[in-house]
Amino acid sequence: MDGNGRWANRLGLPRNEGHKMGVQNVEKIVEKSGQLGIRYLTLYAFSAENWKRPKEEVDALMDLLESFLLQQKKQLLKNKIRLHTIGRIQELPKRVQDRLSEVKEETASFCQSHLILALNYGARNEVIDAVERYVAATKNNDPTEHKLDWNTFSNYLDTAGIPDPELVIRTSGEHRVSNFLLMQSAYSEYFFSPVCWPDFGPELFEEALNNYRNRERRFRENRRPSS
Ligand code: FPP
Repeated sequence: MDGNGRWANRLGLPRNEGHKMGVQNVEKIVEKSGQLGIRYLTLYAFSAENWKRPKEEVDALMDLLESFLLQQKKQLLKNKIRLHTIGRIQELPKRVQDRLSEVKEETASFCQSHLILALNYGARNEVIDAVERYVAATKNNDPTEHKLDWNTFSNYLDTAGIPDPELVIRTSGEHRVSNFLLMQSAYSEYFFSPVCWPDFGPELFEEALNNYRNRERRFRENRRPSS
């Protein structure tokens, strides 16, 4: 969800106004995603690198996150959407952690639709954390008896239990992956839009999905039948 700051700059507004509009768009996209029957939607809401921004901006983003959780709880419960997080949640302000735990607990029984917020997330940190968890969990095992494979290791990633993304969308004209789900997107399709996140509304979102569907169709048509 890139381009909130540029969106605001272009209108001569403070960056935080861009983030506020960004949150409003998040609400619309979560709703649209539910209507379209998308089962897993992951939003890169705060990267591990975002702490380097001015303190006022980080504080404002945390406030927005907290109020988003307060407001969205009703919607998530109504639409039976389960909230998950990936990233080093334990380093977020306590008030945000408490809200996250509350909404995660209250939506934990839903299994059809999933909203995953990437918060204080970075793929490289995720790999390091997964290695540490793996080592701790297997320290008493005989290493010669267990050959580590990807399926086993992926259970130690933050995304354990969540399928790999089929499509990764980045807005605002940047053509970079920026440490987002690097392992999980090994076979994903990418869609880059020049539009800044606050303007990347439900119609553009649906266009991106249609573009992806056509790629899938072409892939299937061109694929040789398996023998
Ligand atoms: C990038 O815009 C956006 C972010 C730093 C994170 C996205 C955050 C939100 C949409 C708000 C909080 C999210 C939730 C789920 C409540 P940028 O500031 O990097 O824009 P720029 O590159 O134009 O400066």
